[in-house]
Amino acid sequence: MHDIVDLRSDTLTLPTPEMREAMARAEVGDDVWEEDPTVQRLEALAAQRMGQAAGLFVASGTMGNLVSVVSHTRGGDEVVLDLDSHIFNYEVGGSAVIGGVQMRPVTTARGFLTAEQVREALRPANIHLPRTGLVCLENTHNRHGGTCCTPEEIAAVTEAAHGAGVPVHLDGARLFNAAVALDRPAADFTRAVDSVTFCVSKGLGAPVGSVVCGAREFIGRARRVRKMVGGGMRQAGVLAAAGIVALERMVDRLAEDHANARRLAGALARRPGLHVDLATVQTNIVIVRVERPDAAAATQALVRGCAERKVKVHAMGPAAIRCVTHKDVDQEDIDRAVDAFGELTARW
Ligand SMILES: Cc1ncc(COP(=O)(O)O)c(C=O)c1O
Repeated sequence: MHDIVDLRSDTLTLPTPEMREAMARAEVGDDVWEEDPTVQRLEALAAQRMGQAAGLFVASGTMGNLVSVVSHTRGGDEVVLDLDSHIFNYEVGGSAVIGGVQMRPVTTARGFLTAEQVREALRPANIHLPRTGLVCLENTHNRHGGTCCTPEEIAAVTEAAHGAGVPVHLDGARLFNAAVALDRPAADFTRAVDSVTFCVSKGLGAPVGSVVCGAREFIGRARRVRKMVGGGMRQAGVLAAAGIVALERMVDRLAEDHANARRLAGALARRPGLHVDLATVQTNIVIVRVERPDAAAATQALVRGCAERKVKVHAMGPAAIRCVTHKDVDQEDIDRAVDAFGELTARW
């Protein structure tokens, strides 16, 4: 049990004592000179887990996606992706600014493009049209509430894109949550794609960082773009050391976060005025919709009321609240959160 139950995001996780110990002892060098042995160890481990040839340690998921998009495309290209995707919505338009690409957002049923939708969105060769330069996928899907797509769905989309010579990037910020939820090796989701970014800084608990993985030649290009955007870090092994602990020790326990999310979702779904689509609670994210005539005000009141009860949740839009489970929230904390929502909706 913790003093404050913080369900706003899994990015709030604190490094474990083992991570701090590894960080203190990390053997380091200048990583821009490719002389940091700990960064190299993390990159090799990440590449192996992803079934890819090489890895590149970056400062954040946003930077990983940015360097991937820019490395795959050239100015004026079009990037096909889901309308609710993180890259389209929450990365400050960076790919447009730095890469000069145009986004082609597609409305999807569950946040996942189908092979059919990709085929429809691909641009034919025509002097008037932009060139389709990249297809991006996201797994698990943040805005859709941590939903997972299967390795087979990813393979089908990749086959459609590759059929037209278009590469595929996977925003796998929470890929290990999908792997644990579907009980499949992470590499099953990533072997077929041309690049993947995953974060060690979210549910895996490391303080900083993501890793981009792909073919050796692609990672060479990504390394240049990382330098261009100021992401060439020096003795970054201090950070990578925590990432190694995250990969080696923190993956299997994600199942606990998923069980806690289901416990929370099941209880909140029974409250009057709250709706949770339980089918979407596949990993560590619970989206609670407030269904009342005064939904916007009621949502704000719930967020405030929870905070007064030392339970922090995140308002996601005018009538929805997002709760994310993670290693620093245990089952008792979940029960405290359920009690807080219970008190606040008792007279609804
Ligand atoms: C799906 C997804 N992609 C990318 C990111 C960006 O990661 P970062 O916050 O490390 O930049 C996030 C962050 O929440 C995310 O949920």
